[in-house]
Amino acid sequence: MPSRVFGVGVLRRWSPKCPNIALQPGQCGGMYWNGPTTCVAGSTCVYSNDWYSQCLPGNSNPTTTTTTTTTTTTTTTTPVTTPNTNSLDQKYKAHGKEYWGTCGDQGTLGQAQCAQIVRDDFGALTPENSMKWDATEPSRNGFSFGGADYLVNFATTNGKLIRGHTLVWHSQLPSWVSSIRDSATLTTVIQNHATTLVTRYKNKIAKWDVVNEMFNEDGTVRSSVFSSVLSTSFVDIAFKAARAADPSVKLYINDYNLDSVNSKVNGLVNLVTQKVNAGVPIDGIGSQAHLSAGQTGGFLAALQKLASAPVTEGTAIVTELDIINAASNDYLAISNACLQVPKCVGITSWGVSDKDSWRSQNNPLLFNGSFQPKPAYNALIAAL
Ligand code: G3I
Repeated sequence: MPSRVFGVGVLRRWSPKCPNIALQPGQCGGMYWNGPTTCVAGSTCVYSNDWYSQCLPGNSNPTTTTTTTTTTTTTTTTPVTTPNTNSLDQKYKAHGKEYWGTCGDQGTLGQAQCAQIVRDDFGALTPENSMKWDATEPSRNGFSFGGADYLVNFATTNGKLIRGHTLVWHSQLPSWVSSIRDSATLTTVIQNHATTLVTRYKNKIAKWDVVNEMFNEDGTVRSSVFSSVLSTSFVDIAFKAARAADPSVKLYINDYNLDSVNSKVNGLVNLVTQKVNAGVPIDGIGSQAHLSAGQTGGFLAALQKLASAPVTEGTAIVTELDIINAASNDYLAISNACLQVPKCVGITSWGVSDKDSWRSQNNPLLFNGSFQPKPAYNALIAAL
């Protein structure tokens, strides 16, 4: 079994000898793979990554070129590796999607193994906690961007799309906000918060979760300082401020338990329809997808229902995917659901390694606690 090698610019290639045995197409190697490692005549077992090799016609190894830069004093050789077309992200892109991403922050991305997996396999990053209100504006107009800047720098350095998360949420909200009781003050506070964050990362963040988790399970509006003081006009205020700060960023409303066509899905679609028709710039709907194994049967229908809302830029996406007792079939079901809904532009896994997940005891992600890929990862790679 190959061991994973970490390091930027290191080409890792595993090339088992492949006698002419009927096994085409399909997986022929990688960690956790116990099946045949041989291919039919005319095809080769090609290394995709440490966890997945595939029989491909001829010699289809990913290409790596070397460019040499000469300066007056030094000569450096920089390996330039073409995108790994067999990474999870690249495979999803090959089906017309924008990305398969993950979440992270300094605590997780600061781990070399995690960072390398993000570089190799994921195409987008969402800050797990660093852009929430308690992290970015702990006191009124007292902004703090250390953690958020780290995430943005990591993402831009490594060419990852960024989803901002999140501007207005009842949770992880400082008490100075939740204690506001008059509408004029709260309006100004929301506008200042949204404007400051969106402006800071203008042209770097592609999509923002503007409003997060504003619904009860029965589809009514959750009680929070925002709804108590401003009714649903806090939605208008937040989205309009974000749009004014960056006219080209995509603006999302995001929630959980949107996993079957239920009261919450209907309530959300109704509110989005009403707001968009009233001129509120909602571009898309995010379905978090914090799931359990066996709970994915209604997901496609729910995603289709969400996509029926008149979101102006036409996107409905999976924003925080994890699945308790991650079964391959459940991961495949979510991947396939997004593939079948044109407005679903991408999927974000909510973390890399099980050990760093908010559900760390529940085996929810694509990589185990030792950063090794799990069967669900291999199943996705094989299916895509
Ligand atoms: O940073 C402090 C640290 O200083 C302190 O010592 C420690 C003590 O508990 O807490 C640390 O903060 C924790 C924070 O994550 C950063 O690690 C909080 O306690 C912990 O509650 C927080 O959990 C986050 C949770 O949101 C909070 O609601 C999870 O990491 C994060 O994955 C989770 O993400 C949410 C999405 O934003 C919205 N949808 C649901 C999703 C899962 O709950």
